[in-house]
Amino acid sequence: MQSLQEKAAEWSGVETTLAFAIDDNGGGANLFQKLGLQTFINLSTNFYDRVYNDEEEWFRSIFGKSKKEEAIQNQYEFLVQRMGGPILYSQRRGHPALIARHGAFDVTHEAAERWLHHMQQALDSTSDIDDESKIKLINFFRHTAYFLVAGVESRNQNQMPCKNASGSHPCK
Ligand code: HEM
Repeated sequence: MQSLQEKAAEWSGVETTLAFAIDDNGGGANLFQKLGLQTFINLSTNFYDRVYNDEEEWFRSIFGKSKKEEAIQNQYEFLVQRMGGPILYSQRRGHPALIARHGAFDVTHEAAERWLHHMQQALDSTSDIDDESKIKLINFFRHTAYFLVAGVESRNQNQMPCKNASGSHPCK
């Protein structure tokens, strides 16, 4: 059986080792040290400004229950932590557990492509991100987006069937 990472690599077209090039800094500055806190705040703000204004209602509505300001903070704190900066996200939210945290959302192939479209535009319009860092980030995002598609899919398939006859959904 294919692992989630193998599926992510196949679906995204990004090999797993390439996705984790974000961690290769050749002994120099990591991506957090290179780009700094403000750049990650700007990137996440830029990204969610696009998501919450998306003309595609089906995509915008996936975020309908989340407040934009909180979504921005969740994302930039996660990115800062993942790129080698202070563990802001885990201090406030605990383990990232991204598959579990995305389990309630429609993380389909189409949603991954739309997410990545907005992230590509956000990366292109955030100043102070050099080309090498941009490529590393987009490879990480592509692979992770499809890792989440694969993870949420298999999580929902493995869920226990509903035993509750009342019609409410005890599995959620
Ligand atoms: C949160 C959707 C991909 C990282 C969320 C939320 C939604 C969502 C609806 C809730 C917003 C909030 O309250 O924070 C999606 C969809 C994706 C996707 C449809 C398409 C594949 C990604 C990727 C990453 C990511 C690629 C990381 C590289 C996060 C993080 C949170 C989050 C860190 C905050 C979780 C929390 O603390 O509750 N996502 N996401 N997501 N997403 Fe995604």
